[in-house]
Amino acid sequence: MDRRTFIRQSCLACSAVLAAPALLTSCSGIRPVAGIIEGDTLALPSGVFTGKDGTPLRVAVATHAQLKQPIAVFRDGPSAYHAVLMRCTHKGVELNVTGTRLECPAHGSSFDSHGAVLEGPAEAPLRIFPVEERDGRILISLKA
Ligand code: FES
Repeated sequence: MDRRTFIRQSCLACSAVLAAPALLTSCSGIRPVAGIIEGDTLALPSGVFTGKDGTPLRVAVATHAQLKQPIAVFRDGPSAYHAVLMRCTHKGVELNVTGTRLECPAHGSSFDSHGAVLEGPAEAPLRIFPVEERDGRILISLKA
């Protein structure tokens, strides 16, 4: 491989990596968002379920430095939400959201959006969190 080809291919690879979050949001209807911890609550702006072009989104993946794994928040309808921890109950690997399912990249377990096991080897459901919308924000209770 010559130098020019190497540089061209490296730039394409970097562009793909940098574009991945935008593609995640625009193509899949899933938005990654950094939440704010307030006591036992993780707060998100309710606008997180609106895409940049105004289209409604169904899923937000909430993150925070204090969380070991993100929380998938599903919008069920106006002011109706539910949330599950994206941690596989088999061996603790972070799950991927694919549509209304959560899939484990390690050994293939899958869960529905409410955390119920669809396919093993995981046997236990995912941890779920109460969610409410108040004052224009999505509030996820992190209490045990
Ligand atoms: S860690 Fe998820 S199936 Fe094993």
